[in-house]
Amino acid sequence: METRWRRLIDAGIAVSSELTLDGVLQRILETAAELTGARYAALGVIDRSGVALERFLTTGIDPETRERIGDLPRGRGILGVLIEDAHALRLHDLTEDRRAVGFPPHHPLMRTFLGVPILLRGVAYGNLYLTEKTDGSDFTAEDEEVVTLLAAQAAVAVENARLYESATRWLAQLESLTEVGNALAGETELTPLLELIATRLRDLVDAELVLITLPTAGGDLRVEAAVGAQAEDLAGSYLARSGSKSGRVLDRRRSERVDSTLDDTEVDREISRRIGMRSGVFVPMVVGDRAIGVLAAHNKHGPDPRFNDEDLRIAEAFAARAAVAVDLADRVARDALRRVVEGQELERRRLARELHDETGQALTSILLGLKRVEEAKTKEDARAAAAELRGEIVKTLQSVRRLAVELRPKALDDFGLVPALERLADAFSGDSGIAIDVQANLDEARLPAEVETALYRIAQEALTNVAKHAGAGHVSVVVTRRDGSVTVVVEDNGRGFGATGSDGDGLGLVGMKERVGLLGGRLAIESTEGSGTTIVAEVPLR
Ligand SMILES: Nc1ncnc2c1ncn2[C@@H]1O[C@H](COP(=O)(O)OP(=O)(O)OP(=O)(O)O)[C@@H](O)[C@H]1O
Ligand SMILES: [Mg+2]
Repeated sequence: METRWRRLIDAGIAVSSELTLDGVLQRILETAAELTGARYAALGVIDRSGVALERFLTTGIDPETRERIGDLPRGRGILGVLIEDAHALRLHDLTEDRRAVGFPPHHPLMRTFLGVPILLRGVAYGNLYLTEKTDGSDFTAEDEEVVTLLAAQAAVAVENARLYESATRWLAQLESLTEVGNALAGETELTPLLELIATRLRDLVDAELVLITLPTAGGDLRVEAAVGAQAEDLAGSYLARSGSKSGRVLDRRRSERVDSTLDDTEVDREISRRIGMRSGVFVPMVVGDRAIGVLAAHNKHGPDPRFNDEDLRIAEAFAARAAVAVDLADRVARDALRRVVEGQELERRRLARELHDETGQALTSILLGLKRVEEAKTKEDARAAAAELRGEIVKTLQSVRRLAVELRPKALDDFGLVPALERLADAFSGDSGIAIDVQANLDEARLPAEVETALYRIAQEALTNVAKHAGAGHVSVVVTRRDGSVTVVVEDNGRGFGATGSDGDGLGLVGMKERVGLLGGRLAIESTEGSGTTIVAEVPLR
């Protein structure tokens, strides 16, 4: 007896020095078999969902036999009794118990039986059972006591492993949330941000697919980010707002968990078939009291496709970040639009003032000149007054034409980008005295109207800047068309400006960026103090 307890304590020490959970459990199992004189022993650990065995360890059965028996026990028969009841059970003959369901083929015959639950603070983690005491006798109350103690050690080991796993998972969550937080502060493009959020969520909740959908102006939902199975097909596709679960969740502004899509009448059959959806969590992205999108994860990996409460909580944390990202992007877009509108208004004000000041004044003085012609005493006086009047009218005509060109050059509509730029260049060098050359590398074909307008306006603003700020002696404009895009380059040899030069409250450069942005192109500004400025605007042709 002494030695038995001694060995039990030794086993405890050995247990705490082992590293992996399986190692610990195997050790407990072998000690139990040894101390009770059982020929066979097995230990099953129930998974967190409580429906399946997460581990099943045995001793006494060689690997080939185990292989031949096949599937792990599913917890029916006597094992089921042990799982449900969570009390120790001793039997003289396992096969004769009325609850027994019999052994699978190739399973060795077992009669005497001792099973104890692996319990800790009322939670059952699994069970430990022994069969076939080698001396042929029944398992004793003392055996039961020893095995119960070992089972308690097994429970501690399993709980520790789960706590460790939880802590590791928490750390991973924290790291991902921090990463997303940093990206929110640093990344300006919305799509990569949403993709990062979807990717991290997918890793953390172990989902097959994560989708972020945003409502469109038309009312339907557009898949803005998709990560996982079939992501490429799904990105950019649309879901009906009224017919989809995401649409409902958006309207209700409440998270939902769907354990089985078959049992949920709101899940769109078409969509769930298309993406092979079996389960999901749907979380609205909420800003203030508005829902501005939906984050959804589908099909948890592993034997149980259902998501749990913790998964839902994680998805909610990510949805909150995604909402901030979308809201921020909206605000930036609105702000840019506001600035463009403001810029246009400013331009109109300037033209109105010119119309009023210059043209208005000129017409007034023409009226006066007319009066002089009428009141002329002699023919000579009348002729002189008329000649003066003609001069005034020619000047006014020129300024009206100039204003008209500034508003919308007729050449742009009638002849296209290059002729319009050539006229602009003529007017520019006439007004500013700066030498200019225009070079075009493109064929006769007209470009889409919005591309012509945008590139013309950009060149116009770039030239205005050259005249206003550069102090240049020469400027060149080069238009090139190649591989489905058109590029306009305006280069001057003036004083240039450093990084600080462009963030004042000028609207010119901002407006240029906005114009190419709207057409999906890009603008590059290369300028260094003292060595001139180059503006490159490239716009794709679709
Ligand atoms: N070609 C250039 N050479 C030297 N400096 C330039 C040139 N283009 C722009 N800049 C500098 O960049 C600043 C911003 O230009 P931007 O066109 O945005 O504003 P602005 O010309 O000052 O005002 P706005 O265009 O709204 O009338 C200018 O104020 C100027 O300092
Ligand atoms: Mg400007």
